[in-house]
Amino acid sequence: MKKIAVLISGQGSNLGAIVRASVAQDWPGRVVAVVSNRADARGLQLAREHGIATAVLDHKAYADRAAFDAALAGTIDRFAPDLVVLAGFMRILTPGFVARYEGRMLNVHPSLLPAFSGLHTHRRAIEEGCKVHGATVHFVSAELDHGPIVAQAVVPVLAGDDEAALAARVLAAEHVLYPRAVRWFLEGALQLKDGRVTHRGHEPQGWLAEPAA
Ligand code: GRF
Repeated sequence: MKKIAVLISGQGSNLGAIVRASVAQDWPGRVVAVVSNRADARGLQLAREHGIATAVLDHKAYADRAAFDAALAGTIDRFAPDLVVLAGFMRILTPGFVARYEGRMLNVHPSLLPAFSGLHTHRRAIEEGCKVHGATVHFVSAELDHGPIVAQAVVPVLAGDDEAALAARVLAAEHVLYPRAVRWFLEGALQLKDGRVTHRGHEPQGWLAEPAA
């Protein structure tokens, strides 16, 4: 059974989607640890309810980013994970940390990368008049939100959408997208070559999410 460590800072709805899918679909892997930089992250409670080990490392207690990342890596490595999953982990990672987990660390970003890396993606998509928006799961690389793309889900931007409505539609798509991508990784279905990711079984890696009711 492969081991997954999930890093969170907030509500952990993607964490919940991954945990539920791993059990319901009987994956060849399970979430064994949830690590947060915030003690009040709601996702920690969800982890405890599922009997998953938790750890909190407050980044403010460390002198600098490198010291925090070293402690974080020490905590993660205690669980010897095969895969590190960033799920709403609101920290910029040092190149050393990223290199340590190269090829085995995934992130979900709420936009169709390479468009709208960084923050406030939903607001920016509306302001630009985009007709579609979505989410991307990618391998983490040293450059923020720029790693090799594993899978993407597209949602419509509807007339009258505000930031909250669009964010909710994207998040619902993430809850389908991220578990699927994590499962592919665990099954060894992903091949990473020349900065591009393909699925060995040629499963579609991008799709149009159901429009909201
Ligand atoms: C999601 O919007 C994700 O795309 C971004 O952070 C948010 C995490 O939400 N990286 P949750 O904590 O999984 O509910």
